[in-house]
Amino acid sequence: MAKKKSAEVSEAQIAVHWQEEELIHPSPQFVSQANMTDPGIYERFSLDNFPECFKEYADLLTWYQYWDTMLDTSDAPCWKWFVGGLINACYNCVDRHLDKYKNKAAILFVPEPEDEPHAAVTYQELYVRVNEFAALLRDFAGLEKGDRVTLHMPMVPELPVTMLACARLGVIHSEVFGGFSGQSCGERVADSGSRVLITIDAYHRNGKLIDHKVNADLAVEAARKSGQIVDKVLVWSRYPGQYHSASPPVEGRDFMINDVLADYAGARVDPVRMAAEDPLFLMYTSGTTGRPKGCQHSTGGYLAYVAGTSKYIEDIHPEDVYWCMADIGWITGHSYIVYGPLALAATTVMYEGVPTYPDAGRAWRIAERLDVNIFHTAPTTVRMLRKAGPDEPAKYDYHFKHMTTVGEPIEPEVWRWYYDVVGKGEAAIVDTWWQTETGGFLCSTLPALQPMKPGSTGPAVPGIHPVIYDENGEELGAGTGKAGNICIRNPWPGAFQTIWGDRERYVDTYYAKYCRDKDSKDWRDWPYLTGDAALLAEDGYYRILGRIDDVINVAGHRLGTKELESAALTVEEIAEAAVVPVVDEIKGRAPDMYISLKPGFEASKETETRVVKAIEEMIGKIARPKHVHVVPDMPKTRSGKIMRRVLAAISNTMDIGDVSTLANPDVVEGIRVLVQGEGKVALKKGPEDIARFGDEG
Ligand code: WTA
Repeated sequence: MAKKKSAEVSEAQIAVHWQEEELIHPSPQFVSQANMTDPGIYERFSLDNFPECFKEYADLLTWYQYWDTMLDTSDAPCWKWFVGGLINACYNCVDRHLDKYKNKAAILFVPEPEDEPHAAVTYQELYVRVNEFAALLRDFAGLEKGDRVTLHMPMVPELPVTMLACARLGVIHSEVFGGFSGQSCGERVADSGSRVLITIDAYHRNGKLIDHKVNADLAVEAARKSGQIVDKVLVWSRYPGQYHSASPPVEGRDFMINDVLADYAGARVDPVRMAAEDPLFLMYTSGTTGRPKGCQHSTGGYLAYVAGTSKYIEDIHPEDVYWCMADIGWITGHSYIVYGPLALAATTVMYEGVPTYPDAGRAWRIAERLDVNIFHTAPTTVRMLRKAGPDEPAKYDYHFKHMTTVGEPIEPEVWRWYYDVVGKGEAAIVDTWWQTETGGFLCSTLPALQPMKPGSTGPAVPGIHPVIYDENGEELGAGTGKAGNICIRNPWPGAFQTIWGDRERYVDTYYAKYCRDKDSKDWRDWPYLTGDAALLAEDGYYRILGRIDDVINVAGHRLGTKELESAALTVEEIAEAAVVPVVDEIKGRAPDMYISLKPGFEASKETETRVVKAIEEMIGKIARPKHVHVVPDMPKTRSGKIMRRVLAAISNTMDIGDVSTLANPDVVEGIRVLVQGEGKVALKKGPEDIARFGDEG
C-alpha cells in the first residue's frame, strides 16, 4: 500500500504538525486467525447494554461463585464490580491451566548476558514455585489476606512468582519499579503500610551486575523515618547460592529466600477465595502534587478487564509467543506481561536488560530465537532501536503477526519504521492509550476490525465511552479540530478503585472537575477525567496530545514536576526550583530543571551535580534532568507564582509570548540568553503539550 510521506520533522514534535494520515488495513492472514472479528462486539458493549456487557470478559475467568450485582454504584465514585463474586487471580493465571498446559512455557526468561542460557518456566513449574513461595509468605513472613507487601524487583521470573504468590493469599502487592531509588521505595513502603519488603541481591543492566540489595537498606531507613517499620526483608538471589551485594544481610531482618524456601519444598497452599472487589495490588504513579498516588486495583474486575483486552486487543492465543518489552514495575507489565497473558495461558517473554545490549540487534535476535509472534513496546524504545540500528530487523528471521505501541504518542514517521521495518509490513499494530489508573486499554483499534492510522490511538475499545470536554464542560465532537480534556463517561471493571488511603484525593483528581452532582449515585453524573488532552477526528479516531497536569511523560513514564522540584530543594543552597518538559529525540520529553540560589551562593558546577544527585537518590536515574540551569531569578506572576510556561518556551526555543504582565519581565531575556546563547535563534512551533504547559489560570 502506498504510504504518504509527511514532511520530516523532529521525531518528538508531534500533534500540531500532523496532518491526517492514511489508513492501513490488517492483512488477511492476520484477520483469518484473530480472536475478534465480529463487529457486533461494539453493539454488545454499547451503553444500552452497560454494565451487563462486561459479563463477556468476566466469563473468560474461572469463578468460585458468580456475582449478584454487576455494578454497585452506592459509594460513588468508588465503583464496585461483580459484587458477591468470589475469585482468585493466581488460580486463574496458574492452576486452571494445568490440565491442558502444564508442560507449556508460561514464562520465557531471557537474561541480559547473552551467554547465559534462557530459562523456560512451565505452568507446572510456575505452580510449584508459586505454592512454595506462598507457603513461605504465609508461614514464615506471617502475611495474610489484606496485608500489603512492597516488592522492589527487576525483570526476573521471581517477580511474577512473588506477585502470584501474594495473589494466591490475597496479600496486596505493591511493586516499585526496580530503577527507582531506595528512598522512593521507602516512601511507598510507608504509604502502603508494608512491614515486609521483597527484593533481590542484584540484576543485570547494560552490561553490569547491579547491586540492588543496597536499596533495601535505604528503603527501610526511609520508611522508618516516615513511621513505618519493616520487620522482614526477603531477598531473592540472582544466582542462587551466591550473593552479589556489598550490603550484608542484616541479622534477624534480612533473609535469603532460597535458604528459607528449603523448608517449604513441596508445600501447597489453597488459593484464598477473594471477593471480586478485594484489592489485588497497588501501583504508585505520579500526580500534580509531590506525593505519589497508590492506585488500588481490584481482583475480579481488573483480571476480567485485562483478560478481555489481552484476548481481543493483543490477540493472544495460548499457542502464541508474546513478548511485551516493558518493565513489570509499571502498569503495562502488570496487566500485559503478567496478569492478562497468564490468565489466557499464553507464553510470556521476560527480558532482563536493555533493548540495545550488547548491540542494536539484540531484540531481534531474541525474537528470532524464541519465534516471538506478538511484540509490544513503547515509542521511546522504538525510537531508540531505530536510531541504534535502523536496518537491524531485516537481518533476523522473525515474523510478528501483531505489534503494540503504548505509553506516549508515537510520531507517524516512527510508526512507519515500526510497521515497515520491525513488522516487515506483516504485523497489525495497535496504539493503545491508557493509564496506571485505568488498569487496561481505553482506546485502540480492534486489530482485525479496524484499519491503523499512524499517530492516532484509534476509537475507544469495547465498553469504553469517551467524551472530550472543553473547560466549561461543553462537548467537543468529532471533526471539530479542537482539543479538550478527554474523559470517560462510564465506569469499567479495570478502573482503579481509589487512591490507597486517600479517597478525597481520588475524587478531587479524577471526578470533581466534571461531576454534575456530587451526591449522585448515578454513574452518568461522574465522568472520569483522564488528565490528557485529545481531539477526535471525523472518523472517530482519537489523537492523544499529552498531559494537562504537571506531569511529564519521560520515555513513557510519568514523572511529577513537583517530585523533582522537591528533590532539588533538598540541596542546601537552592532557593527555588522549577521543572519543565523539553523535547528529547529518544525519550519524547525530558525534564529541564531551573534553579535559583539563596543569597550568598554562587552558581557552580558542583551545585548542578548536587541537584542531579539528589534527584537520583530521591527518585531514581530515570528522573535525571536533561539540563540544570542556574538562573538569577524565576519569571513570576505578580502573585509570586513561577511562570513555568515561560521557562518551557525557552527550553524548547518556542515563542515566549507576552511577558509584560509578569512581576519581573526583565529577567526573561537573561534566562533566554543563558539557555539559548547570545543572538536570536529560530523559533520552533513546538508540540501542544509543551505550548500549554503550566498554563493553569
Ligand atoms: C500517556 C501507561 C498517547 C498519556 C500505560 C497517559 C499515551 C499516560 C498512550 C499514562 C498512547 C499512554 N498515546 N499517550 N498510546 N498511552 N499515554 O500511567 O498521557 O504510565 O495519561 O500508563 O501516558 O501513563 P501511565
